[in-house]
Amino acid sequence: MKKLKWGMIGGGEGSQIGPAHRLGSGLDSLFEFTAGALDHRPQEGIDYGKSLGLGDRAYGGWQDMLSAEKKRDDRVDLVTVATPNSTHFEITKAFLENGFHVLCEKPMTMTVEEGEEIVKIARTTGNICAVNYGYTGYSLVRHMKAMVARGDIGKVRLVNAEFAHGHHADAADADNPRVRWRYDPAQAGVSAQFADCGIHAMHMASFVTGQEVTKLAADTVSCIDVRTLEDDAMVNFRMDGGAVGRLWTSSIAIGRQHGLSIQVFGETGGLRWSQEHPNQLYYMPLGERLQIIERGEANLSPEADRTTRVTIGHAEGMPLAFANIYTDLAEAITARKEGRDMDPAANLYPRAEDGLRSMAAVYAVAESGKKDGIWLDARPPMFR
Ligand code: NAI
Repeated sequence: MKKLKWGMIGGGEGSQIGPAHRLGSGLDSLFEFTAGALDHRPQEGIDYGKSLGLGDRAYGGWQDMLSAEKKRDDRVDLVTVATPNSTHFEITKAFLENGFHVLCEKPMTMTVEEGEEIVKIARTTGNICAVNYGYTGYSLVRHMKAMVARGDIGKVRLVNAEFAHGHHADAADADNPRVRWRYDPAQAGVSAQFADCGIHAMHMASFVTGQEVTKLAADTVSCIDVRTLEDDAMVNFRMDGGAVGRLWTSSIAIGRQHGLSIQVFGETGGLRWSQEHPNQLYYMPLGERLQIIERGEANLSPEADRTTRVTIGHAEGMPLAFANIYTDLAEAITARKEGRDMDPAANLYPRAEDGLRSMAAVYAVAESGKKDGIWLDARPPMFR
């Protein structure tokens, strides 16, 4: 496969997620880091981009990058949007409308209406819009999905997903400008912790089971009382294939570090996986002994084999999971360039539709939380 050209907006020096994207996109030599508008401060963005080898394709702002790149014959093939949440919609829309494929960080938009617009633009332009639910790139998450799909645990009865950490638990820190904005509706929107972390867990529940969330009921709370938005939520949900869902997300769970995990219980078996121990998957067939499946073992699924790189017993972590999303995208982009169709089931990068579903769930969680946990339709209007 010919190397594709990759660009990034945001992800500047010292950013949290920028390095993981650079590692993930470069890992398999499928993409070449070619252009970027990496910082909200123009000169810092240019300087940092040049230090990473971007030369005159290090831009001071995303608008400059868009107008220069769209004129080039060798324009970037994929643009990653790794800026703060409130800018995702505008940047993603502009690049899609100008013929670029986009990988947008989560949450894809700030409102359901914006999410629907992005889905429509992606569909009408035919450009790829992916959303970085990067944890779905882990080899054993792909294997879990394959096991559920091939019936290893029978019909799914229950999914239990968590994303609970303790990094905003210190009340003395609540006024810290790096923390405060996250709980301020003017900057964060209608939800804090669910929109930031809960959507990863809910998307993973859908990804692994192959079922979509239809309705939900949420108990949201601000454990640190100066906060307007929630720092903890318990969400019950139902899925279109009949599965029952339970989800806990928190930012005040002291002692929890990353805290993403998922358990799926079917009629004939159970599975559990945790992001902090991503190289082991626990599988219990009904009436048999507990099995620990190791990433890299022989005779796993094709989905697991495709997404594993180093031999068994050597840890693979988060940038390699992101790399699997980039591998999916490289295949999808190359297929389009060559005019080939791709079977969506064989290429599992999260779609704009997933980003939209998350946004509808965010609004349902916020509203249900305000109304004492009533059940609400969790589907975006265009999918009802
Ligand atoms: P950050 O605050 O650490 O970094 C943001 C970067 O974007 C900075 O370099 C900043 O200068 C740059 N930036 C801001 N506005 C810009 C603009 N208009 N044009 C160009 N650059 C601009 O933020 P962080 O934590 O890296 O988060 C970025 C996004 O990634 C957020 O949407 C967040 O939700 C998401 N994220 C996703 C994760 C995942 O697992 N998928 C994990 C962590 C963050």
